[in-house]
Amino acid sequence: MPAFIEAQNLQKTYRVGKVDVPALRGVSFEVQQGDFVTIVGPSGSGKSTLFYLLGGLTQATNGRLVIDGDDLSKLSDSERTQLRKKKIGFVFQKFNLLPTLDARSNIDIAQEIAGTKADPAHFDRVCGLLGLDKRMDHKPSEMSGGEQQRVALARALINRPALILADEPTGNLDSKNSVTVLQMLRQANVEFGQTVMMITHNPEAAAYGNRIIHMRDGEIVAPELDPQWTGHHPA
Ligand SMILES: Nc1ncnc2c1ncn2[C@@H]1O[C@H](COP(=O)(O)OP(=O)(O)OP(=O)(O)O)[C@@H](O)[C@H]1O
Ligand SMILES: [Mg+2]
Repeated sequence: MPAFIEAQNLQKTYRVGKVDVPALRGVSFEVQQGDFVTIVGPSGSGKSTLFYLLGGLTQATNGRLVIDGDDLSKLSDSERTQLRKKKIGFVFQKFNLLPTLDARSNIDIAQEIAGTKADPAHFDRVCGLLGLDKRMDHKPSEMSGGEQQRVALARALINRPALILADEPTGNLDSKNSVTVLQMLRQANVEFGQTVMMITHNPEAAAYGNRIIHMRDGEIVAPELDPQWTGHHPA
């Protein structure tokens, strides 16, 4: 079976004024459907840049990226947008909820954007697992950070996208909320069969994955070359 994600020599260079900033210097990897991959590495090593490429939010300067059979470099902007809406759920460190909408509408908006209606049973299940039942009428300003992140996760999961990209989803959370978010990601992976990729600085969070990718200076490196890594690798 072909890999779910195939990246070959992916490069991304940002242009700032007259200066080129190489954020990804050629990364190659494969992710199988059903993998839970964690990405670790120092600040500035290119982790978020990689996620923007995977999510179709920006285009690579060079290299090849195939997701679920679609070669992203060959897609038009609107085709990439469609791919993102239908197949990818994003979770960010800063929850990115819409401030004027309550929790239910913030979750619903993912379905409106994708042009689909989520299975109501799945909606209730996800919101129940995340303990959001009593917060559905609250706006983001009326929720704790942990609650906001659980809403953001529900929004990312509700359409059952094939790929979940979580960029430091527990970076602003206490340990209890972190565990809830991580367990939900694990459940999405194991029970709902979604492929998960998660950036984290926390070795305990990284251990939720079945594979770890270490990045440094825009490249994938062996674990011993990651100066910040003190955790164990999952089996
Ligand atoms: N929009 C941009 N324009 C110019 N340079 C950028 C831009 N975004 C990121 N960079 C640069 O690219 C490099 C990689 O940044 P990136 O955000 O991918 O790192 P990161 O690994 O996610 O770091 P962190 O752990 O701090 O979130 C950094 O040197 C950064 O300064
Ligand atoms: Mg980042």
